[in-house]
Amino acid sequence: MKIRVLGSAAGGGFPQWNCNCRNCAGVRSGTMHTRARTQSSIAVNGNAADSWALVNASPDILTQLQANPVLQPARAPRDTAIAGIILVDGQVDHTTGLYMLREATRPWPLWCTDSAYADLTRGNPILQVLSHYCGIDRRRIDLEDGFAVDGVPGVQWRALPVASKPAPYSPNRESPVPGDNVALLITDEVLGRTALYAPGLGAVEESVWDAMQTADCVLVDGTFWTDEEMIALGLSRKRARDIGHLPQSGPGGMLEWLEKLPPRTRKILIHINNTNPILDETSPERAQLRRRGVEVAWDGMEIVL
Ligand code: MLT
Ligand code: MN
Ligand code: ZN
Repeated sequence: MKIRVLGSAAGGGFPQWNCNCRNCAGVRSGTMHTRARTQSSIAVNGNAADSWALVNASPDILTQLQANPVLQPARAPRDTAIAGIILVDGQVDHTTGLYMLREATRPWPLWCTDSAYADLTRGNPILQVLSHYCGIDRRRIDLEDGFAVDGVPGVQWRALPVASKPAPYSPNRESPVPGDNVALLITDEVLGRTALYAPGLGAVEESVWDAMQTADCVLVDGTFWTDEEMIALGLSRKRARDIGHLPQSGPGGMLEWLEKLPPRTRKILIHINNTNPILDETSPERAQLRRRGVEVAWDGMEIVL
């Protein structure tokens, strides 16, 4: 099984178009030791060539497809290697790319939970709009059951409800229900190896912690370094936890959890906000990650399990 990171940034990307924080200014001017990043998405390949599952449809999907020619096998005048799409939530940074994929020649097989489906047909009725183009062939993610993506053989999926926040347009924004946000436990059926993908994780609850401990690789919420990051920079009044993201540093932070995992577990932070000091490869925060054996996802990173 292969996981290709298409976009490693959180909503807004890096640099964010209207942001002049230290990081965004630094990457824009080329004066910071870092790389630009597009918004949150991965692609997963099992044991069939030219056949990938797209996990989240980023607003940057067209750029991501250009940067990853493996996703365009060119077997027909109109073609794609994307066999199906899975959503971990209904957030703007994970769904807007569906509009960019509207020229598909058949309805997109689209896996999402009932609550994400409700948000994407009401608060943000993107799936209704898409029905005027390629349409979607909705596949229900059942929180009790695993699933497989047709056309991506050799990979088994399981969605775990996680504590985070649905999108601001969701009626559940301030009182989330199970299924608003999920983590994906992705298993290579042949090798029995697993990855846990959780770009939005507001707290590490028991079921997620169990999955993290069994996974060979965890790709977890790397949005913010501190809870007050956006407040301290004068960019927002919201804490990381208020918008469903557990910060890395501090008591109970993501680094404490990652520290408790077995040494063999590959630990990768993903969905990184442009304000996060770990984006500066020369920062003390990044040095701390290196000491702890924690990697920072980048666009184009490929993980072979
Ligand atoms: C989030 O996960 O909180 C998002 O990145 C928000 C957004 O898409 O703007
Ligand atoms: Mn996001
Ligand atoms: Zn910024």
